[in-house]
Amino acid sequence: MEPWWQQPVSRRQFILRVGWGLVYGSLLSWAMATLRYMFPNVLYEPSAVFKAGLPGEYEVGTVTTKWVREQRTWIIRNSQGIYALWARCTHLGCTPNWFDTERRFKCPCHGSNFNIDGDVIAGPAPKPLFRAAVSLAEDGQLQIDKAQLENRPGKREGGTFFLPYKSA
Ligand code: FES
Repeated sequence: MEPWWQQPVSRRQFILRVGWGLVYGSLLSWAMATLRYMFPNVLYEPSAVFKAGLPGEYEVGTVTTKWVREQRTWIIRNSQGIYALWARCTHLGCTPNWFDTERRFKCPCHGSNFNIDGDVIAGPAPKPLFRAAVSLAEDGQLQIDKAQLENRPGKREGGTFFLPYKSA
């Protein structure tokens, strides 16, 4: 006996098979849509909080660039303490670079320049770079929170956006 796919098919059988195929196809797509509905449309983003080592690891007067690639953040220590700048240009969002010899950040996209405080000193950027909240975690490490940002002079130098620190 021939296998079923080689047996002759009448017009009536053909139409019936196509019809059932359409019914099963639409049931399957309805079931898949229902299944997809069970899962929320959530965007899983990395945490905005990260630990950046011990404050004593940062030298006074330096801009540390080691977190830029991973966390898009510079950590800066001055004679009074530590702050973290979010490495996102306030013009259109490119990542500026730090030029130590010129003591400024330069944005490669349209030429904005920022000083070590994050203030605009050249270019189209409309406002200063943002600082991220910085605190000490229980284990003594710096904890940076990029979900809390501030760039207004007078506000950014205090509160959670500047960590007073002097090494012993
Ligand atoms: S994105 Fe930085 S100057 Fe335009």
